[in-house]
Amino acid sequence: MGTSPDSIDNLLHESRRFSPPPEFVENAVATAELYERAAADRLGFWAEQARELHWHTPFSDDRVLDWSNPPFARWFDDGEINVAYNCLDRHVEAGRGDRVALHWEGEPGDSRSLTYAELTAEVKKAANLLAGLGVGQGDRVAIYLPLIPEAVIAMLAVARLGAVHSVVFGGFSAESLRARIDDADAKLVITADGGYRKGKVSPLKPAVDAALALPDADGATGTHTVERVLVVKRGENEIDWTPGRDLWWHEEIATVDAEHIAQAFPAESPLFILYTSGTTGKPKGILHTSGGYLTQAAYTHRTLFDLHPETDVYWSTADVGWITGHSYVVYGPLANGATEVIYEGTPESPHPGRWWEIVEKYKVTILYAAPTAIRTFMKLGRQIPQRFDLSSLRLLGSVGEPINPEAWVWYRDVIGDGITPIVDTWWQTETGAIMISALPGVTILKPGSAQVPVPGISVDVVDEQGVSVGADQGGLLVVTEPWPSMARGIWGDPDRFIDTYWSRFGPTVYFAGDGARRDKDGDIWLLGRVDDVMNVSGHRLSTAEIESSLVANPMVAEAAVVGASDETTGQAVVAFVIIKQSHLEAASAEDAIPQLRKHVADQIGPIARPRDIYLVTELPKTRSGKIMRRLLRDVAEGREVGDTTTLADTTVMQVIATTVR
Ligand code: WTA
Repeated sequence: MGTSPDSIDNLLHESRRFSPPPEFVENAVATAELYERAAADRLGFWAEQARELHWHTPFSDDRVLDWSNPPFARWFDDGEINVAYNCLDRHVEAGRGDRVALHWEGEPGDSRSLTYAELTAEVKKAANLLAGLGVGQGDRVAIYLPLIPEAVIAMLAVARLGAVHSVVFGGFSAESLRARIDDADAKLVITADGGYRKGKVSPLKPAVDAALALPDADGATGTHTVERVLVVKRGENEIDWTPGRDLWWHEEIATVDAEHIAQAFPAESPLFILYTSGTTGKPKGILHTSGGYLTQAAYTHRTLFDLHPETDVYWSTADVGWITGHSYVVYGPLANGATEVIYEGTPESPHPGRWWEIVEKYKVTILYAAPTAIRTFMKLGRQIPQRFDLSSLRLLGSVGEPINPEAWVWYRDVIGDGITPIVDTWWQTETGAIMISALPGVTILKPGSAQVPVPGISVDVVDEQGVSVGADQGGLLVVTEPWPSMARGIWGDPDRFIDTYWSRFGPTVYFAGDGARRDKDGDIWLLGRVDDVMNVSGHRLSTAEIESSLVANPMVAEAAVVGASDETTGQAVVAFVIIKQSHLEAASAEDAIPQLRKHVADQIGPIARPRDIYLVTELPKTRSGKIMRRLLRDVAEGREVGDTTTLADTTVMQVIATTVR
């Protein structure tokens, strides 16, 4: 092990393989033939996928892609479309109005189901309401809501008008909200009094008030672009009111016209801006447009989740504040006429079996969740999910970070009863939709690998010079051909778009910022952000790889690894580990440290042996569940801990810093 910089890869020792069950194959939406069709005529293939949607004005065969001004692609650009019409009216007009679109579950246990006919009616009214407030084509609307039906209704109403939404996750602070409002010059904010999180009402409207009271970049107050604040009643918490600016959603919606005819908009009309953090500096407003985005969101949702809309009940646990919530809660599923569950609260409220109770209640068949949640459930133990009937589940999905093989196998065994296929889907806010994933019913699954580009997508793994690396070599993940749901830019900052993604390997190659490796079968293993890839004595090591090794040890519940600067080796491996409760009862925690160092050395090679292992009780995570390794690196390098404001729990770092000192 460890003879060349690229050969260290614990993940590649993973040899378990899982074929799809025969009944699954028989009824699978996807077939291997999709790859052939896409390879034979890539643009023709995408045109075919686009034509699954309703086009008010069809696009021409010679306008499928305009790549004459890279990296600014135009897809289907002489076509006209209405995104909301595709998610709503189309299904009603086809006689599917009685199908449930949303089963909404509130955290306290209240619930509401809306059929496609009902959802369409609500969106039509909301569109009239917004139009009455002056929202028109191209205007920006900020949405700061809990995951309640109105969040979906508001997004679709904005889309229906050809306006542009900017959904800001309800966990973001007033400052973050204001920065996003200002960057996009939003004229309207849609919020709620509050929403339920962790068993209590978490206020939202007060944060909007605070955001709008903040001074602008020049220190002036009252200069923001927001004309109106529309407030949904949800938390029933007390809020302040600014007459003339603030309006109750329920009062306004009661007065508007019920009919609304969806107008057609050019395929390249902006649909939404979604802010995502860069490595440094201010968040980037990733811009997505209409026709291409919807095409790929719907296509991937249908084929990768094996969607049978007549019978499936789909549940993505993501909040609409993230890209997964855009593409795989709102646009993909609804464009496909799916029945889906949306859940307002946190997985542990009011009890740790909440998710599994919801699966049982709605007989969820397809579940799409994040590895961090899976590992949390692993930590809590299988007896919790096993109390519920999960037999309806037939497909599981994973997104957001590499899923280590142990978590993958646990997910399949405990949640999927040892039979469900798992799709590990790699993509980004910037890619708009899934790019790399197994095709369920076709691909033989390898735990820990996202596997193959979806039909129609071309990716490569390259070295620093942009040359494809060989089998089992590590490198950088790039996308080599434009794709329909690709970001069209960073709002207001085209140069940053080019610099960040399209300059490293030239203007037509997309640099994703992720490390990856392609194995001998051509399957792709994601190794984490390149900023999380360590270089120890000239050996390339992945944080994901060592974390995976640690988590595979029976003592370990969770682990995060960072590369801390080291005088002799360049970087050194530093691990933060949570030991399982069951182990702590049997042995002393301190004994674990030498054992774990040896375990990693044995599994991966001596080069990967952590210099330091710190035993902790929590890891710093963002609200979307990503481990903030930057902060752990600060601790490991003995620095003052940096900005913790995006942590779900900002006290975690104080606890960790004391542990380490
Ligand atoms: C990571 C989330 C490994 C990756 C949809 C990417 C993954 C970043 C996976 C984007 C996966 C996402 N395997 N890593 N299946 N999915 N990532 O923009 O580092 O919130 O660059 O989009 O998450 O995060 P974002």
